[in-house]
Amino acid sequence: MRLFLVFPFLAGLVASLPSQIHQQPFGLMDEHQSSKVNVSLYVMSRCPDARLCEDVFDSVINKEGILDKIDLNIGYIGTPKKSEVLGVTCKHGLEECIGNAQQLCLLNHLPIDKSYSIIQCQNYPSSFPRDIGNLDSLKKCVDTVGGVDWEKSGLAKCIEGKSHSTTITNNDDKEDKEKIKHLGKEAKKLLKKNINQTYEKEIKTSCTIDIDSTISGKQGRRRCIVDGGIWKGCDDGHTAQDFIRVIEEEHKNLQSKKDD
Ligand SMILES: *[C@@H]1O[C@H](CO)[C@@H](O)[C@H](O)[C@H]1NC(C)=O
Ligand SMILES: *[C@@H]1O[C@H](CO)[C@@H](O)[C@H](O)[C@H]1NC(C)=O
Repeated sequence: MRLFLVFPFLAGLVASLPSQIHQQPFGLMDEHQSSKVNVSLYVMSRCPDARLCEDVFDSVINKEGILDKIDLNIGYIGTPKKSEVLGVTCKHGLEECIGNAQQLCLLNHLPIDKSYSIIQCQNYPSSFPRDIGNLDSLKKCVDTVGGVDWEKSGLAKCIEGKSHSTTITNNDDKEDKEKIKHLGKEAKKLLKKNINQTYEKEIKTSCTIDIDSTISGKQGRRRCIVDGGIWKGCDDGHTAQDFIRVIEEEHKNLQSKKDD
């Protein structure tokens, strides 16, 4: 009985193969490249405006099904500078550069919802932004969120490098050097590359939210900025609901293009 059921299906498949062989590689490539909506948040880890837009986006990424529809990129804002030990400077100082680098390690080694929850945890103690860049404080948030193995996840190596020991020093400058020394090679590399990419895009305001658009009349991108607590240029709105609606629209448009 089983054969009888399967055979017509197989016969149909074989009959349709020649045309499919011709089209499939391109079809698959299209699907891979353009089925997700590019969403970018440009931030600085010690900036209150970044905290504001990360908070709005927390509701966006927690909306069921949204993470399957977007490619989320977090870009840190700073200035490439070869003479600096880290190769970059950050508006709110060295601690911010270290904070950015630590968050990049989270984003590179954990699923996005996990890393995002840890960043949210860092953003909301009353001490903000004082503890951003502080290793103990970061580890506390990793524990609070839970389900992350500091070593096995690769975070330890990325963030702390090989040496986990600390040297006690009273001199400020030496202290800075110690902090940098205890930042992993990978963290430094991620920081330099990420800040360079944002810099090359000439994005200077934290927080800038870009959603790539393929809908005509949107000039290829929908941008929304929050600066000094004020939302600017957000033609499609700036609440979580608005961002979700825009992402759904863009995703639907990408799907319909694929079906053409
Ligand atoms: C998303 O960004 C990537 C890399 O910049 C680009 O190649 C791709 O075409 C973008 N996709 C859409 C749908 O805009
Ligand atoms: C950023 O990286 C690109 C590509 O590696 C490089 O050509 C450029 O000089 C870098 N920009 C800065 C400001 O360092």
